[in-house]
Amino acid sequence: MATSRGEFSSSFGFIMAAAGSAIGLGNIWGFPTQTAQNGGAAFVLVYLVLAFVIGYPLLMAEFIIGRHSRSNPVGAYRAISGGKPFVPVGYFGIIVAGLILSFYSILAGWMVAYAVEPFFKLIGADDMAAWTVNQGNLSRNILFTSIFYLLTIGIIIGGVKSGIEKWSSRLMPTLIFMMILLTIYVLTLSGASDGLKVYLLPDFNKITDAQLILSALGQSFFSLSLGVGTMLVYGSYIANKENLVKLGVFVTLADIAIAFLAGLLIIPAMYVAANTGTEIFDEGGNLISGPTLVFQILPELFNSMGAIGVPAALVFFILMSIAALTSSISMLEVPVSYAVDTRNLQRKASTWVIGGFFWAISIILVIYFDKLFGLVVSFTTQYSQPLLGLVICIFIGWVMNRNSVLEELKKGNPEVANSLFMKVWPFFVRIVSPLLIVIVFLQSLNVF
Ligand code: PHE
Repeated sequence: MATSRGEFSSSFGFIMAAAGSAIGLGNIWGFPTQTAQNGGAAFVLVYLVLAFVIGYPLLMAEFIIGRHSRSNPVGAYRAISGGKPFVPVGYFGIIVAGLILSFYSILAGWMVAYAVEPFFKLIGADDMAAWTVNQGNLSRNILFTSIFYLLTIGIIIGGVKSGIEKWSSRLMPTLIFMMILLTIYVLTLSGASDGLKVYLLPDFNKITDAQLILSALGQSFFSLSLGVGTMLVYGSYIANKENLVKLGVFVTLADIAIAFLAGLLIIPAMYVAANTGTEIFDEGGNLISGPTLVFQILPELFNSMGAIGVPAALVFFILMSIAALTSSISMLEVPVSYAVDTRNLQRKASTWVIGGFFWAISIILVIYFDKLFGLVVSFTTQYSQPLLGLVICIFIGWVMNRNSVLEELKKGNPEVANSLFMKVWPFFVRIVSPLLIVIVFLQSLNVF
């Protein structure tokens, strides 16, 4: 029953947890670099529109399915699909959530490594410090990926209230505080204003660029943790007294706000680095993104800052680690909730076994990084997330009982039937979102 399977104790706790899932490397790393490569503010604008047109409607769909069924994706489809064949989709979502965890934890492990390095330097262990940031070292990568798994597993063992909610409520405010501090500091450095221009002045020639729209759509899916059941599972732990429409708005706004803030930090930081002689463009003349940006350009920038460089680097990599951790717990919670609700297994043992399983996959990815990593990223984020999102739209728009949907929305919000939300959302979730998702999906298969 609802209470025995755990419930968030307050709307604040829920918002911190769900925003914690949404806000991650996708916001702080993915969003700024995509923006820089896609015409600056033009990308930001398209992203904002898509986050509200597709992201928010789909987020609401997951919350509704989750809270109505009080279950994980498999249990949910089994309970409310009226015998229609959606259960395999639930299983697929759970697997994809786990696979996202497997690649994400490797990136997160790197963040942890860079957060640890200054401590070795401080105690004069320079060899250790160098080892810690040696991106090509296999045992180093295995060690830090494993440390990150232990953190994730440790929190998920605690369950909804004393694991997810407690830690998200502590970590998210810390993250936001650190980020604002660092952004303000970077904006005072010389060169920052050139970055601001690139970020904030739209190149309107690019706004109709198909590639830009597709990147923005993919970004909004990944960033809001959609499709794979994370938001469905978190939704299943929301108390009946809460207003889902409002919670969804808060989570979407928080996700967008942090992505925007990250742009104010990263892009100016790159131009500050350029000012001190670092190369920030690749051969094609595009701003460098990916690992080179985070693990080369930014560290060089911190090094050039003198005394403030070490604390600045520390703050940056700790905040990246925190952002990753509040996301990774939401990924692991998906399969764990399946084991606990549907299989009636004990939470602690399930978390170790499932966490251990995806850890093993991560280690395989670390070892065969060049061959496998990119494949898993594109399989999960480019193909599976949009496809699963499409199914969720079809499910809530065309299959799920309409009275049940309305009933769920009315809890904590009795007036919803006459609200603007009800005039707009059903149309989006039935028609607009699925159509747009199909377009992205076909594009990713290179049909156009
Ligand atoms: N939203 C997270 C980020 O932006 C990633 C994520 C994807 C989390 C899918 C959960 C599920 O980094």
